Amino acid sequence: MRRGTGVSTANRSSLTPSASELLGVPHMSKAAVMTGIDQPLEIRNDIEVEAPHAGELKIRMGASGVCHSDLSMQNGTMMAACPIVLGHEGAGTVEEVGAGVSGFAPGDHVVISWVPQCGDCFFCNKGQGHLCENASAALATGGLLDGTTRMTSGGAPLFQMAASGTFGEVTIIPAIGAVKIPNDFDLRLAALIGCGVLTGAGAALNTANIKPGDTVAVVGCGGVGLNVIQGARIAGAGEIIAVDMSETKLQMAKEFGATASVNAGQGDPVSQVMTMTKERGADVAFEVIGLQQTIDQVITMTRRGGQAILVGVPRMDVMVNIPAFFGVVLQEKTIKGCWYGSSNVQKDVPRLIELYKSGQLKLDELVSREIHLEDVNEAFDAMKTGEVARSVILY
Ligand code: APR
Ligand code: ZN
Ligand code: ZN
Repeated sequence: MRRGTGVSTANRSSLTPSASELLGVPHMSKAAVMTGIDQPLEIRNDIEVEAPHAGELKIRMGASGVCHSDLSMQNGTMMAACPIVLGHEGAGTVEEVGAGVSGFAPGDHVVISWVPQCGDCFFCNKGQGHLCENASAALATGGLLDGTTRMTSGGAPLFQMAASGTFGEVTIIPAIGAVKIPNDFDLRLAALIGCGVLTGAGAALNTANIKPGDTVAVVGCGGVGLNVIQGARIAGAGEIIAVDMSETKLQMAKEFGATASVNAGQGDPVSQVMTMTKERGADVAFEVIGLQQTIDQVITMTRRGGQAILVGVPRMDVMVNIPAFFGVVLQEKTIKGCWYGSSNVQKDVPRLIELYKSGQLKLDELVSREIHLEDVNEAFDAMKTGEVARSVILY
């Protein structure tokens, strides 16, 4: 169970039934459900949510960002078990605490970590909580840590994306997937920290090794890429070259710290980055989309001895194509994957909140639109056309 201070609430759920349980009325809530690839999400009002099991928390969602990975599940880029409640970038309020959980009480505000981090497995003990082996089953099966789920609709089980399912008014998560935050911190911004900010800023601050004055290129300036840009700025990068096809995004990239921009829709972005770097290439280049073409571009635009960091989630058939001698040995390039910004969420969420409070990290500017859950399909459309950094669902 989670280690930490605070009152133990062991067995609370079995001792204190909710008002609806006392009245014998099952609690129904609303969620956006994916039923199949390329199907619009269905807004259902008949979701029954069980009480949290041991080691779990019931969360009443405050806000959820709509991230590209939600769209990637809906369009089949990433695999999903259906029917499933999507959403993994969220924050809310603890409503009920499962047996054996300490450190949380009803009323606490939390950011949901879509990689639960146990703090005690092989990877967590090596300081790589983002690779926690206890999280793997949940990510692979669409269930919670034991592979089962806590939600049904019309009597049929519903899976939950990434042990979270933040496109629902209420969800059950593993307690090791919750990070407590101050109750006066804006839940809209907290939600965005849960994926886009941890992933993007973490890619620059944790995954990559950016040295002061480095030239950094960021290909893809959406909700995640803008955070890579501000992470690179905080890490002390000199030049930050933003690459995107949308002028709106390139403009936003400058507000987040980019010092130069390349419109990938107007000519080859690799040759433009090479020109800007005396034909050497960038010290560190990030791919933040997940396409074959842009992955190839990022590896090519990384200088000899530099780092290519792959953040975007590609289709399963996308390959890293690079000649072993001329591409890797002779060039001495590092090609590094980035999962969840290599974040240790219990340390990094408070660190990001402090960076926000000190004015170094922009969060308000990431919220392009505030929407209702019913608008989630329109939010997918807005993401496809590159119009928004983030649409944020308010509950
Ligand atoms: N060249 C340059 N820019 C492109 C290209 C391209 N060929 N194709 C798309 N883009 C830009 C879009 O204009 C958009 O600004 O990439 C950006 C992608 O941003 P979002 O759709 O907001 O995606 P985001 O949520 O940032 O996620 C990016 O990270 O976590 C993963 O699964 C996620 O793979 C996705 C990636
Ligand atoms: Zn995400
Ligand atoms: Zn672990």
